[in-house]
Amino acid sequence: MKFFIDTANLDHIREANDLGILDGVTTNPSLMAKEGIKGHDNIIQRYVDICNIVNGDVSAEVIATDLKGMIKEGEALAALHPNIVVKVPMIKEGIKAIRYFTDNGIKTNCTLVFSAGQAILAAKAGATYVSPFIGRLDDNSVDGVDLIEQIVHIYRMYDFQTQVLAASIRHTMHIVKCAEAGADVVTCPLDAILGLLNHPLTDIGLAKFLADYSKTK
Ligand code: E4P
Repeated sequence: MKFFIDTANLDHIREANDLGILDGVTTNPSLMAKEGIKGHDNIIQRYVDICNIVNGDVSAEVIATDLKGMIKEGEALAALHPNIVVKVPMIKEGIKAIRYFTDNGIKTNCTLVFSAGQAILAAKAGATYVSPFIGRLDDNSVDGVDLIEQIVHIYRMYDFQTQVLAASIRHTMHIVKCAEAGADVVTCPLDAILGLLNHPLTDIGLAKFLADYSKTK
């Protein structure tokens, strides 16, 4: 399972990258706004900065919702760096754009996916990644991890090559459950990744080992 970090914060990206476990980054317009990034040029610069830190796929989202606009934006984003994956919303024109990008060798991430039907369409269009938003489903009393399981099952049955990228992850248990469900990728905030380190018995055990070591000196 690949680990992506879900942020546009360079310090968080560096910290996760320094752990040696990072396979990529996802961003979206809300994450850019959260970092106070304003203006097209600064957004583009942030993508380049991220690509210069992480040796892995970096999702950059198109803003246009018409086919021509998505293609224009997506081609410009893809030209920034070989690691750029063009993130396209799950709408009718988005599916056409994904087909276009696939046919032209540009990697894509189909975003805002909330159903297995949408995931089938994304795979048929040749998306590199499909992003089901599990936290937002949980917020609406629908089990997001169930959707991951369902999509993984369908994709395996038909040998679809699209990778299931579990998004909208809120906590460490989501990561573990997505791993059990067979997600190809999880994209998580830094605190959810770091939360995987935690166990009180580890802390207690280490303190005891260090205390006992001092008795052997
Ligand atoms: C990543 O690709 C998604 O845009 C992101 O995980 C959405 O997360 P949220 O539901 O916490 O905004």
